[in-house]
Amino acid sequence: MAETKTILVAGATGQQGGAVARELMKRGHRVFGLTRSTSKFKDLATAGIEGVQGDLTDKTSLAPLLRNADGFFIVTTPFEPNFSVHPEKEVQQGKNAIDAAKAAKVSHVVLASVASADEDTGIPHFESKAKVERHLKASRVPHTITRPVAFMDNYASPWMLSTLRGGIMQVPVPPGSRQQLVAVKDIGEIVARAFENRRMAIGKTVELAGDEIAFGDLPAALSQKLGHPIRYAEQSEEDARKLMGDDGLRMFQFFRTKGYHVDIPALETAWGYRMTRFHEFLDTVDWERAQPKW
Ligand SMILES: NC(=O)c1ccc[n+]([C@@H]2O[C@H](COP(=O)([O-])OP(=O)(O)OC[C@H]3O[C@@H](n4cnc5c(N)ncnc54)[C@H](OP(=O)(O)O)[C@@H]3O)[C@@H](O)[C@H]2O)c1
Repeated sequence: MAETKTILVAGATGQQGGAVARELMKRGHRVFGLTRSTSKFKDLATAGIEGVQGDLTDKTSLAPLLRNADGFFIVTTPFEPNFSVHPEKEVQQGKNAIDAAKAAKVSHVVLASVASADEDTGIPHFESKAKVERHLKASRVPHTITRPVAFMDNYASPWMLSTLRGGIMQVPVPPGSRQQLVAVKDIGEIVARAFENRRMAIGKTVELAGDEIAFGDLPAALSQKLGHPIRYAEQSEEDARKLMGDDGLRMFQFFRTKGYHVDIPALETAWGYRMTRFHEFLDTVDWERAQPKW
C-alpha cells in the first residue's frame, strides 16, 4: 500500500467529497470529512469517516483542521439546496479554502472544478470555478485540479427520477446533441490516485469523463432500468429558462454548441484506470433506493 496520509475532505457529505472520502478510506488513509453540521457526523461515521465541523466561508474554522493534514480535497458549490446559484459565494469558498491551505503549508491540494472551466463559456458557475483555479495557481500551493464533466449519478438522483417517473425527459437540446458523463465513483478513484502519487499529480489539470452519449439515447437506457417508457421532448429555451434559470440554460446552450471534449482514452492511459461506461454505471444503481450500490 502507498504511504498512509491524513486528508481533509470538503464536501464529504456530498457526491464528490463522499466518493473521495470513501475511496481514500478504502485505501487505508486517515480521512476527516468536513461538514458545516455536526448532525451529519453520524452518517459519516456509518461510512467509517470521521466528521469534523467547519465552513469554507470561515477561514478560521479550517485552520485547526488543516494543521496536521497532508492533503486537502476542496469542493466548492454555488448552489443552495433550493437550486439557486451564487457564483460569488463559490469564489469565496474556494479562496478561503486555498488561503487556509497555504497558511497551514498543506503539501497537496486537490481542487474540484469543472471540465471546460477555462474556455470562456459564459456559464456563471463555470466562470466562478475558473476564478478559483486562478487563485489556486497564483497561491503557489502544490496542487492538482480535477475537472469533471456532468455526473452519471445525476440520472439516478431523486430530483431527476421524480421527473422521469412522469414518463418524459425534457431537455433544451436536440436529441442528437451528445454529452460526456463521468461516474462520481471514478472521481473518487482518480483523486485518491492523485494524493497517493503526489509527485506525478502536482501541477496537473485533469479533465474527467468516462463515456459520451446522445441526449436522445438517454430515455431508452433509463426506461429499461425504471421499467416504464420515457419519451424525449426538446424543451424550448423559454421554458428551460423558467425552470432552470439563466445559469442552467447557458450550460445547455454550451452542451448544444460545443460541449465537453475530454479525450477519454488518453485519460485512461495516463492514469492506468478504465473509467466507468454509462451502461456499467446504470447496472450499479439500486433503482429502488435511487442510489449507487457501492
Ligand atoms: N452535478 C454535476 O453534474 C456536476 C458536474 C461537474 C461539476 N459539478 C460541481 O460540483 C459541485 C458540487 O459538488 P457535489 O455534487 O459533489 O456536492 P453536493 O452533493 O451538492 O454537496 C455539496 C457539499 O458541499 C458542502 N458545502 C456546501 N457549502 C459549504 C460550505 N460553506 N462549507 C463547507 N462545506 C460546504 C456540503 O456540506 P454540508 O452541507 O455537510 O456542510 C456538501 O457536502 C458544484 O460546484 C457543481 O458545479 C457538478
